[in-house]
Amino acid sequence: MRAIMFEDSGPAEEVLQLKETETPSPGSGEVLVRVEYSGVNPTDIKSRTGFFERIRHLVPIIPHQDGSGVIEAVGDGVDPARIGERVWLYIAQWQRSFGTCAEYISLPEKLALPLPDNTSFEVGAALGVPAMTAYHGLTMHGPIEGKSIVIPGGAGSVGHYAIQMAKLLGAKQVLSTISSDEKAGHARDAGADVVINYREQDVAAEVMEATDNEGVDHVVEVDLHGNGVLLPRVCAFGGSIAVYGSNKPEVTLIAPEFYFRHLKLEGFALYFLGDERFQKIGSEINRMLTEDQLKHRIIKKYPLEQAAEAHNDVELGRAIGTVLVQPGS
Ligand SMILES: NC(=O)c1ccc[n+]([C@@H]2O[C@H](COP(=O)([O-])OP(=O)(O)OC[C@H]3O[C@@H](n4cnc5c(N)ncnc54)[C@H](OP(=O)(O)O)[C@@H]3O)[C@@H](O)[C@H]2O)c1
Repeated sequence: MRAIMFEDSGPAEEVLQLKETETPSPGSGEVLVRVEYSGVNPTDIKSRTGFFERIRHLVPIIPHQDGSGVIEAVGDGVDPARIGERVWLYIAQWQRSFGTCAEYISLPEKLALPLPDNTSFEVGAALGVPAMTAYHGLTMHGPIEGKSIVIPGGAGSVGHYAIQMAKLLGAKQVLSTISSDEKAGHARDAGADVVINYREQDVAAEVMEATDNEGVDHVVEVDLHGNGVLLPRVCAFGGSIAVYGSNKPEVTLIAPEFYFRHLKLEGFALYFLGDERFQKIGSEINRMLTEDQLKHRIIKKYPLEQAAEAHNDVELGRAIGTVLVQPGS
């Protein structure tokens, strides 16, 4: 099969190579998927650049956690009725060498969720990291029905799904921060009730005005480094903050504002959520897909030969939406 592989960290065009390699066979408990689309996320960029030393034992690596396709064969212990099933894939390359940027992938069957009939393969490859992160970040501290939520970065891949899901899950008010008029349009299109330009406006003042000086119940935070000081100033007493990203590792927090206001700050990395939580999130996302409740932004599709371009789109922030690689094209 044809696959994109890398052995060293470095710029995409230098290290990502198109190779001919053996098509995998499904092991026990695994399914073999013919990949239709492979989704590119910031985590794939980080594993190609920053975190390489940690995963040196896995080289050569076929990148990408997200994807979609059709099950072509199954290993021992997997119901043969799954052959022919359309699926979407999540955390496909986590602690494994071979991800979705190839014509085929063999992976544990639990990582291949049924793709609803009304949902395209393109959308299937856009869901894993962004949609699952959005759902978990919104709900990890309990139901959000009737609550007010701030979603910084509402034009981002996670943020765009988070705004939509917050509305679908019954949030009373969804506020989002963005950095440009174009991104404001994306956040509004997703359903944000209030959109604040964090580069030009006083975010805390705007949130307080929009919430009758109450502050919000919950925040799904994309950048703890940039927003750490701001968080207590937008939260209601007893509010919660789910952190999934930070533009830089170090953060500043004003401690008394956290303990005097009983704020709860909790980070998470999708990879560690565990099977039960993934099944719950996967079935909730599939319910939303089946009911045609979600909007998706597939903005570019590249053939395998141009995987480096796809990485550069994501790495350089050129993409407001999902970038895909199409191995079969
Ligand atoms: N913990 C996890 O499991 C997990 C899961 C998914 C993603 N992530 C991480 O989360 C980050 C976002 O992922 P993504 O796929 O959504 O990326 P993305 O599509 O690039 O979106 C990030 C968005 O955040 C905005 N942003 C950046 N800094 C901001 C700030 N201080 N305040 C408000 N908005 C800000 C960006 O726009 P502007 O820069 O123009 O504001 C952009 O729209 C990445 O670092 C990714 O690695 C972590």
